Amino acid sequence: MNIYKEISNAVISKIKEIPEIKDYITPQILNNTTIEIPKVRDFGDFSTNIAMLLTKSVGKKPREIADILVSYLRQIPNIETVSVAGPGFINIKLKDEYIKKSALTDDLKPDTEKSQKIDLDYGGYNVGKNLHIGHLRTTVVGDTFNRIAQFLGHKTKSYNHMGDWGRPMGLIIAWVLEYGMPENVDDVNRMYPASSARAKEDPAWLEKAQKITVELQNGNKEYKKIYDTFIPMSLNQVNGLLKRLNILTFDENKGERLIAEYVPEVQNILNQKGIIEHSDGAEIISVKQDTDTEPMPPVMWKSSAGAQTYAAADLTAVYYREKTDNPDAIVYFTDNRQTLHFKQIFRAARMAGFAKDIELQHIGFGTITGADGKPFKTRDGNVPSLDEMINIVADSVRTRVNDSGKNLPDETIEEIALAALKFNDLMHDVKSDYIFDVDAVTNFEGRTGPYILYTAVRLNSILKKTSEKAEITKVDLLPEERDLLMFLLDFNRIVEISFERRAPYILANYAYDLCKLINTFYHTCPIMRDDISSEVKAQRLAIVKQSLRVLSQAINLMGLKFPEEM
Ligand code: ARG
Repeated sequence: MNIYKEISNAVISKIKEIPEIKDYITPQILNNTTIEIPKVRDFGDFSTNIAMLLTKSVGKKPREIADILVSYLRQIPNIETVSVAGPGFINIKLKDEYIKKSALTDDLKPDTEKSQKIDLDYGGYNVGKNLHIGHLRTTVVGDTFNRIAQFLGHKTKSYNHMGDWGRPMGLIIAWVLEYGMPENVDDVNRMYPASSARAKEDPAWLEKAQKITVELQNGNKEYKKIYDTFIPMSLNQVNGLLKRLNILTFDENKGERLIAEYVPEVQNILNQKGIIEHSDGAEIISVKQDTDTEPMPPVMWKSSAGAQTYAAADLTAVYYREKTDNPDAIVYFTDNRQTLHFKQIFRAARMAGFAKDIELQHIGFGTITGADGKPFKTRDGNVPSLDEMINIVADSVRTRVNDSGKNLPDETIEEIALAALKFNDLMHDVKSDYIFDVDAVTNFEGRTGPYILYTAVRLNSILKKTSEKAEITKVDLLPEERDLLMFLLDFNRIVEISFERRAPYILANYAYDLCKLINTFYHTCPIMRDDISSEVKAQRLAIVKQSLRVLSQAINLMGLKFPEEM
C-alpha cells in the first residue's frame, strides 16, 4: 500500500467537493500542489501548500482559504486532526487506529498502474580482464535496479554487453600464436595485459593484433578456434563471481560478438540514410549539433583497419533491442567516463531513425577512491579484482567478529562481507565519487550493511524465541511505535521513487533510517519483559513482524541475505 497516494487522493477528492473552492482546482493547481511528509512530524503526518496556491484565483488570503479547507478535510474518516500553520500550510494528522491497521496488515504489494518494458544494460564485462573494482557499481546498482523494477511489476530484460569482440581479442590471439594456448583463465587474464604492453612499444605487434582482430571478425577459422577456447574460461570466471556476489542471472549475454550478426543490417540502413562519412579510411557518423557547447566528436562506425568498433556494437544493440524487445526504455549503467560515448550513440540512433518511442538513458557513476581521492588501489598499488575486494572485506569482518569473542561460520562472514561491500556501494548517490574505507564499511554501527543485517537478525530472533501471538490490540501507540509504523507505510512510495529516479541509493538510505527507527523502538518499547501485559506484547510483536517483513523486502531488493545469527 502507498499511504502517501491514498492520503493525497483523499485530500484532493475532498477539496474538489467544496462548493466555494472546487471551480478553482485546475490541473495547473493540482500540478503545483505538494502533499509532503514533513521532516518534523510534530505537527502532522502530511502537510500541503494548496491553500497558498489558491490565493490568487479565489481572491482570499491563504489562511482564510486554509480555514475553509480544514473544515472539510476534517471529515475524511481516517484523519485525526487538521491544522493551519505558518502562512497557510495545512497539517494533517492521521488516526492511530488507521495507522495501525494500514501498517500492520500491509502486504507491500505495489499498485503500479502501467507495467513498463525496460531493457537494462549493466555489467558489460571484458574478456581477458578479471572483474575488478571498476565493475562493482555497474553490477550492484544495475542488479538492484533490476530487482526494484521487477518488484514493481515492470518487465525487465538484463543485458550483459560483453566486451568480447574488439582489439583485446586480437591481442590475446597474437600472444597465443606466439606462446601457446592458455590453460586457464588466469593465463588468459595475463596474456591480454602482456600483449597490450608489447603493442605499446612495438608498432608491428599492434598492427598484427589489429589485423587478427579484423580477420577474426571476418570469420578466420584458425583464430575462431583459439577464441572459442578462451571465451568459456572467461565466461566461467564471470559467472562464478556473479554468483558469489548474489547477482541475478543476466537474461542475455549478448555482447559485442553476438550483436555483430546485425551489424550488416544496420550498415545498410546507415548507408540508405546517407549518414556515413569516410575519413582517413574509417567510417564515421557526425553527430555534432549547432547548439553544442562541448566537443562532440563523430561516432567511429568502422575503424580504418576495417574492424567493428565499440560504438558500432552499441548502435547496433539499440537497433536489435528495439526490434526484439520494443521496450519503453533502455537504461545503461556504466561509469561516467562513458557519458560522451552514450550521448553520441543516442544521437546516432535518432539520426538512423531508431528508438523513436524508446527512452534512451545513461546513468553514469562516479569513481570508488581511496582516502587520497585517487582511484582505489590495494596496498601493493594494484587495482583489486572483485574477488580480492570481497576477500579484503571478509577478512575485516572476521577480525571484528573474532575480536568480539564470537565464532561465526564462514558462510555468515561472507554474507556480512557482501552486505558491507554492496550496501556501501548502494547508499551513495551513483553520480558522485566515494571513498572506500574497509574499516568504515564493516562497522556494525552506523550507515553500514552489517548494521542493516544485524537489525534484521535481531527482529528475527525475537520472533523465533516466542510462540505468543502477534496482533493489533486496543493499546495506544507510543511515539516511537507511531513513527516506526508511519515509516513502514512509506516503503512502497520509496521503492517507486527509487525506480523513477533510477536511484537505488534512495532505497538503501531508507533501509538505514528504518533500522534506526526499529532500534529506537526496540530500546524504548520492551516486548518480552515479564511486566509487559499480553495486549502490549501482542501489538509489539505485530510491529516486530511487520518491521521484519519490510526490512527483509528491502534487503532482498538490495541483493543481500541475512544470516540466522550474527
Ligand atoms: N565493456 C565496457 C567497458 O568495460 C562496458 C560495456 C558497457 N555497456 C555498453 N553497452 N557499452 O568499458
